[in-house]
Amino acid sequence: MQRQIFDDYESLSSAAADLVLETVRQNPGAVLCFATGNTPVGTYRQLIEKARARQADFSQCFCFGLDEWVGVPPEKSGTCHQILHEQLFKPLGIRGTQVHLFDGMTDDISAECRRMNEMIRQKGGIDLMLVGIGLNGHIGFNEPGCSPELEAHDQELHESTLASGQHYFNEPTPIAKGLTLGLAQVRAARTVLLLANGAGKASIIQKALEGPVTPEVPASHLQQHEGAVVMMDKAAAAQLTQ
Ligand code: GLP
Repeated sequence: MQRQIFDDYESLSSAAADLVLETVRQNPGAVLCFATGNTPVGTYRQLIEKARARQADFSQCFCFGLDEWVGVPPEKSGTCHQILHEQLFKPLGIRGTQVHLFDGMTDDISAECRRMNEMIRQKGGIDLMLVGIGLNGHIGFNEPGCSPELEAHDQELHESTLASGQHYFNEPTPIAKGLTLGLAQVRAARTVLLLANGAGKASIIQKALEGPVTPEVPASHLQQHEGAVVMMDKAAAAQLTQ
């Protein structure tokens, strides 16, 4: 696992955007996976600016969404569907046929998860997965205690995830469960780019990077991933001891 520490959020976002662009430049058919949340907003903004300036070609790549709220209509502001389409896919000119996201409105969760797993296999796995970290160490909706062997699955959300989750919606939205790629798929991605910014993430970043590798801190599994790159600003890195 590599660590990179940046002075501020802007330089972190710029470096993360550069890594996505470089991945697609080297492999135009790259299979990418994107998270939502506040952390990658700056990366997506810079990715769009840099992609335009460099005339980057995303027409052959394929994109997966990391997770989705169960039972929230996709067009609602705050869903992974809405955010990724508006903040990323549309501005980059990525077409609907190049994207596969969880259907949070499915009435058959097992079939939905099988469809996701099958699609990832069909595409030959994920080349670059961009993720954030939850305050409890989750990646996607892999909450503490999740088996590292799981593929796509549904997940009851923890208190802290439910509380921070409400901030993504513009009106109170009932949420209880999420659909997520599993840690097996995170661990199998060729590169996992984990982003963290702000003092609020400092404690969990220290546990995830320097504590024991344990299902209690799902992001700690990245310590064993040779292709993991953790990009942090100084505030998020402040409690690291090494
Ligand atoms: C959410 C999402 C994750 C996201 C994480 C961190 O619950 N399911 O995909 O990475 O929490 O969010 P933020 O970047 O807003 O801190």
